Amino acid sequence: MQQFDIGSALRFESTPGGLVRAVIHTAAAEGELYLQGAHVTQWTPRGAKPVLFMSSKSLFAPGKAVRGGIPVIYPWFGAREDGKTGQAHGVARTTLWTVEATRLSESGDVEITMTLPAAEAPGARLHVSFGTTLKLELEVRNELSTPFRYEEALHSYFAVADIHQTSVTGLEQTTYIDKTDGLARKLQHEEPVRCAKETDQVHLNTAATCVVHDPVWQRMIVVEKSGSASTIVWNPWSEKAGGMADMGAGEWQNMICVESGNAADNAITLVPGASHCLTATIRVA
Ligand code: BG6
Repeated sequence: MQQFDIGSALRFESTPGGLVRAVIHTAAAEGELYLQGAHVTQWTPRGAKPVLFMSSKSLFAPGKAVRGGIPVIYPWFGAREDGKTGQAHGVARTTLWTVEATRLSESGDVEITMTLPAAEAPGARLHVSFGTTLKLELEVRNELSTPFRYEEALHSYFAVADIHQTSVTGLEQTTYIDKTDGLARKLQHEEPVRCAKETDQVHLNTAATCVVHDPVWQRMIVVEKSGSASTIVWNPWSEKAGGMADMGAGEWQNMICVESGNAADNAITLVPGASHCLTATIRVA
C-alpha cells in the first residue's frame, strides 16, 4: 500500500484486527478511512471536536460492519428485497475496496479514490476528500446489458452532545416513511426533526441541504448533497441500542444519523452504460 502514501499527510497501515486503514493528517484536518467498506471513521477539522460519531464498542474485523463513521450502503438499503439472502444495507460496507489513486490537492486536501469490485451488482467508485470540508462522491456505472436498479446511502453518523437537544432542519414539508410505525407515510410539518424516541425515517423526494443543530456544543453540521433524493434520519434510542453488541452503553445519546441517499421510491434505475453520482459535502459551522 505504501505507494499510495503522501508523506505525513496520508499513510496506510495495517491494524492488529487484520484491516488496512488510511490515516490522514493535514493542516486542515485529521481523518481515518478503512479499506473494508471504504469506510470513513474519523474526520476532525483542526480545532473542532470529532464530527463523526464512533461507537466505543465497534467491531473492526474482516467481514464485520463498523458502528459509526460513514458506512457506504449499496446496492440495497435496509433489508434485501429481491428474494435472495443478504445482510442488511448491502455488501459494500463489508467488502474490501481497492485504492485506485491518492492525491494532495492544491489546497492541501487529501483525496482517496477507491473501487468496489463488481460482484452480483455492478462495481462502484468512491472518491473521498478530507479538508476543511469532507466530501464523498459515490459513482455507479451500469456495465450490465440489462437495466440495473439499486439503492444507496452515505450513512453518516454525526457526533452530538445530547440527542434530546438536537434538531435537524431541511426536511420541513417532506413526506417520510416511518420505519418505526409499520412503514406509514407521514408528513414532516414545518418544524425541524427532533428525536424523542426511536427514530427511523426515510424522507422522500428531498434534495435540500440538512443542518444538524447542536446547541450544547454550539455547532451546526451542514450536509449538502447532490444526486440524492432521500434523506434518512435514524437514532435507535435506549432499548434498541441496548440490544446492540457493538454500541457502547448510553452512547446512542451522542449520535444522530442523517444519511444522503436514494432509497425506497427513490431507488435508481440505470440503463446499460449509464452512471449516477451521489455526493455529500459536510462542513461545520
Ligand atoms: C438506518 C436504517 O439507515 O440504519 C435503520 O433506516 C437501521 O432501519 C439503521 O436500523 C442501522 O442499521 P445497521 O444494519 O447498521 O444496524
